[in-house]
Amino acid sequence: MAERETWTSRAGFIFAAVGSAVGLGNIWSFPFQTAANGGAAFLVVYLAAVFLIGFPTMLIEFVIGRRGEQNPVAAFKKLGYEQWSFTGGIGVFSSFVTLAFYSVVGGWVLSYIVGSVTGAYFGDPGAYFGAVSAGPTAIAAHAVFMAITIGIVAFGVTDGIERATKFMIPAIIVLLVGLAVWATTLDGAAAGYSYYLSPDFSTLAKNFGSIVPAAMGQAFFTLSLGFSVMIAYASYLGRDDSLPADGSAIVVINTIVALLAGFVVFPILFATGGAGGAGGGPGTAFVALAGAFGALPAGQIIGLAFFVVLLFAALSSSISLLEVPVAYVSENYGYGRSTTAVAMGTVIFVVGLLPALGTNYLTLYNDVVFKFLLPIAVLLLALFVGWAADREAMDELGRGSSFGESFTTVWLWWVRTVVPIAVVVTLYLGVKAIYTSFQKGVYFRNREILGDTLFFSTSWWENMGDRYSKTVIFVF
Ligand code: PHE
Repeated sequence: MAERETWTSRAGFIFAAVGSAVGLGNIWSFPFQTAANGGAAFLVVYLAAVFLIGFPTMLIEFVIGRRGEQNPVAAFKKLGYEQWSFTGGIGVFSSFVTLAFYSVVGGWVLSYIVGSVTGAYFGDPGAYFGAVSAGPTAIAAHAVFMAITIGIVAFGVTDGIERATKFMIPAIIVLLVGLAVWATTLDGAAAGYSYYLSPDFSTLAKNFGSIVPAAMGQAFFTLSLGFSVMIAYASYLGRDDSLPADGSAIVVINTIVALLAGFVVFPILFATGGAGGAGGGPGTAFVALAGAFGALPAGQIIGLAFFVVLLFAALSSSISLLEVPVAYVSENYGYGRSTTAVAMGTVIFVVGLLPALGTNYLTLYNDVVFKFLLPIAVLLLALFVGWAADREAMDELGRGSSFGESFTTVWLWWVRTVVPIAVVVTLYLGVKAIYTSFQKGVYFRNREILGDTLFFSTSWWENMGDRYSKTVIFVF
């Protein structure tokens, strides 16, 4: 068996982890979620979730990964706790399902890059979204996006993932900063900033019960936690750098990118007539932004730059999602990496056909992972490190770190108490939300809730999807 690969440098690991963290969640969801939930008031809650719950959880995954030096399932066994292996297994499964719909959205981004070059979405952005978001075009674009993801992962940890993210992350930052600076010159800049960030504590107070779990869910998702991704990436460390220092760098860069995205998006929207319904559903941000690009003088170039940023963000995340099941299957069953990447990627492509047929299925996949599997995985991880493997975890966190023993001790008690309580509350509210959505028919048929004008409710594709999903649910 070939020796396990390791990152070529500390920066290589940080780039890869930032690549996983910075994704559609930062650029596509975060700004709209912030604006809709009270601006700066939401930001306070979000930052608390990221730094107080997300950051310690990231360290949980890091210590398991670095100490285990194995894929996320085998790592538990290597540590001597085989009975906990299913915890890593949940992450493997979540990565698998998430990539299936993440790749569909990645495919939309590809269609918008093409549309920026040809100007295809300039006339009627709503119709363009309808045409590319579900059905044959969506399936084709999903296939292309998946093929690129497979290509990178097949090359391996250093030649594939590390090399790709070392190129994509700087490109994302340079382009985003450029766009944000350019956006300051727009007429709508001031209105955009104030829509984005002006604190609205009454919205926060009124919807506190739904905003807190939303912020927490977003914090886990944006930091790629609960998917075993950070376990897998830390398993390729092979070095004793400071985990708290690396983790802080990753969390801070990820947060800056998310904040920056809002400084790009809102001036653009307000220069051309406001945010409208953006943020109201999976496609509204695409429609609103494409409309704005169509109306701006240099819209084609700006649109192209924006969607390239989105593509790099999506790809640097999708490769981490594919890496998790690929590492598991290739190490566990001894298959070659590239063969496994192609086979696994193909299966994931097939699982992604359903969300490519209708965005309501995309919401279904998203909710099951986001509101259910993810909190369960984080809860188990916290209990594992907090109560089962606590001595090993503290020892591992201390290695190479200058943060000292008191930091490690506080971290352990935090992971034992605060993190599980926060996650249980999130889980409870998430499951309740899934149940409500299910009752309202969000996932099956009932298009009104998602904004029916955007979707072809009667197309053959969607009907087929409906029938298929019913069968699947029935089988379960
Ligand atoms: N962090 C990514 C984003 O914000 C999503 C992601 C989640 C990627 C889990 C990998 C693993 O879009």
